[in-house]
Amino acid sequence: MRHRLLVNRTPGDRSEAAPPDAGSPAAGSPLDYHRRLPGYAATPLRRLDAVAKRLGVAEVWAKDESERLGLPSYKILGASWAVYRTVTDDLGVDVGDWHDIDELRSRLAPLGPMELVAATDGNHGRAVARMARLLGWDACILVPAGTAAARIEGIGSEGASVEVVEGTYDEAVEQAAGYASERRLVISDTSWPGYERVPRWVIDGYSTVFGEIAGQLREDGTEAPTHVTIQMGVGALAAAAGAAYGTAHLTTLVGVEPLDAACVLASVAAGAAVDVPGPHDSAMAGLNCGRPSPLALPVVQESYAVLVAVGDEAAEEAMRLLATEGVAAGESARPASRGCSPWRTIRPAGWLSGSSPTPAC
Ligand SMILES: Cc1ncc(COP(=O)(O)O)c(C=O)c1O
Repeated sequence: MRHRLLVNRTPGDRSEAAPPDAGSPAAGSPLDYHRRLPGYAATPLRRLDAVAKRLGVAEVWAKDESERLGLPSYKILGASWAVYRTVTDDLGVDVGDWHDIDELRSRLAPLGPMELVAATDGNHGRAVARMARLLGWDACILVPAGTAAARIEGIGSEGASVEVVEGTYDEAVEQAAGYASERRLVISDTSWPGYERVPRWVIDGYSTVFGEIAGQLREDGTEAPTHVTIQMGVGALAAAAGAAYGTAHLTTLVGVEPLDAACVLASVAAGAAVDVPGPHDSAMAGLNCGRPSPLALPVVQESYAVLVAVGDEAAEEAMRLLATEGVAAGESARPASRGCSPWRTIRPAGWLSGSSPTPAC
């Protein structure tokens, strides 16, 4: 099976990886916030015995993010926290003590009508659109050319307007950045020079996933996973995992991305951000990114031991394998494994999926 593998010789002092955000006095912690959103429940951590047997390791667990706050991916955790921090920290709204989304919406009413803007190559745009809907605001979501009609419909179903940009995801990001104004808040999961606060909050919002995993493994009597494998687009989720496991030194982190869009691997190999030009046509739709987030890249560089780029056939095989365990996964994936024999027994073809069967934008 086609793949490219990079053993990162430069992981450094992991203590320099961005620490998990503890929230702020005004906003509280991401988990406290997520608990107050409609439909919050910890997602299941599934033990996959058939997958472990197939890979020749002791145990494999997958954090199943196919249903998170009513959407088919974990992305809403980052998008919702970034919107919240933008209004509390950047716009300075005093939201006081609120208990549910209705109360939050009424506290934000003095702002008047607002619009959220985001570019997306995966689930982030739909998550931003959902947040706008929950707050009674508009949303404008930009998608790259070639985005599947079903994904555009998924975003539209949240009441957002969808603009198709004639270009790649990275060009959609550039266009979205130009839409920022007093009433239009750009909520991007990737960063660029001068735009770091919001993507930092997106990364912080993902900490809820790893906080839940820690609690779930503790219940199982485990301190930490031996290996965690994370799928990468711009690397924001990978950075959140880097922050969660980076300083513990107990866990080996492995990042995975599509062969045609392996911008994080190329950048870690080069020791600096590298653009991987499109077209990016992988079936791993949310991972089709040609430019890593400058905010995420140093964290990955510091804390990931191995980076792997795989072809679509590996994702398809992983989906089939997961289906045998009753996990209906999509092409983009994220498992947590533990108790494994040395990591080298985790073959590139064996990466796993924990997202939705039909990832919506
Ligand atoms: C299910 C899923 N996993 C991973 C990613 C990539 O995450 P990141 O861009 O933070 O690396 C996406 C992006 O949309 C996604 O939808």
